[in-house]
Amino acid sequence: MAKTVPRCLAVFNMKGGVGKSTTVYNLAAGLVRFKKQRVLLVDIDPQGNSSAALGIDIWQLTTQLKDVLQRRVGMEQVVVKTASGVDVVPSNILLAEEEIPISGMPGREVLLKKALTPHIDRYDFILIDCPPNVGVFAVNALMASFAVIIPVDMSYLGLLGIQGIERTLTLIREHLDHPIRIAGVLATRFDGRNNLSKEVLGSLKTHFGDKMFQAVIPETVKLREAPSHKQSIFEYDSNGVGAKAYRQLIDEVYKWQ
Ligand SMILES: Nc1ncnc2c1ncn2[C@@H]1O[C@H](COP(=O)(O)OP(=O)(O)OP(=O)(O)O)[C@@H](O)[C@H]1O
Ligand SMILES: [Mg+2]
Repeated sequence: MAKTVPRCLAVFNMKGGVGKSTTVYNLAAGLVRFKKQRVLLVDIDPQGNSSAALGIDIWQLTTQLKDVLQRRVGMEQVVVKTASGVDVVPSNILLAEEEIPISGMPGREVLLKKALTPHIDRYDFILIDCPPNVGVFAVNALMASFAVIIPVDMSYLGLLGIQGIERTLTLIREHLDHPIRIAGVLATRFDGRNNLSKEVLGSLKTHFGDKMFQAVIPETVKLREAPSHKQSIFEYDSNGVGAKAYRQLIDEVYKWQ
C-alpha cells in the first residue's frame, strides 16, 4: 500500500555506538525489499556510516548534504541511488567542518525540513541517521521528522541517557514548537547470556511500556560484519537472528501510525 504522506523518522540517541546507523540502513533496505516502499535515507552524521554501509564511497562525493543545507544545490543533485534500492543523501567529515557556518544561518533549525519539503511526495519513508550529539544537525533531523525511533543499547550508561533524550524532545516540542512523537524505543545489542541486558530491557519496558518496539536487536557479529560487505543484514545473513529481529522491526515501523 503506497502512502501519500511520507513517514519522516529520525533515528536518534546522543549516546554513541547504540546502533543508530545499523538500524537506519537495515530498516531502509528492508522497507524497500519486503514492503516495496520508496525510501530516502538522509545521513546527517559527518561519520557517513549509513551512507558507507549502503555502498557509497564517502570520500569521493562531489556534492553532499552540507551543500543542500547551505542552499548551494538542490536535494535532487545530491541523492545517490544505491544497489539496495534506497535513495541516499550522503555525508562525510566535510559536514562537520561546516557546522559553525550552518549554525549561523537564519532558520538554522529547519534547513533540512525546508530542503526536504519539495521532495516528500517521491517517498513513502524518509529515515534520518543522526549524529551522537544534540548539535545543530541532530536538531535539524528532529525538526524535519514527525517521529523518532530511539535505539538504546543494553548498558547502564544507555539507561542513564534516557533522561537526556526525553529532555531534548521536550525542548523540541516546547521551545521549537514541533510536536515530535516517539515512534518507538528499540532495545539494541541485546545479549541474552548477560544479566545486565535482561535488567536494562526490563527497566526500559517498565519506563516506556507500549512505546517499546517488540523487536529486540541481538548483539551478533553478522550485524557488525555486514557493512564491510556493503550489504544489508538481509543479504549478508538472511536467515540469522539479526535479520529476523530487523524484519520484525520493519513490520512494526511499517504498521506504525
Ligand atoms: N546488534 C549489533 N550487534 C553487533 N554489533 C553491532 C550491533 N549494532 C551495532 N553494532 C556495531 O557497533 C558499532 C556501532 O554501531 P552503529 O554505528 O550502528 O552505532 P551508532 O549509534 O550509529 O554510532 P554513532 O553514535 O557513532 O553514530 C558498529 O561497528 C556496528 O557494526
Ligand atoms: Mg551512526
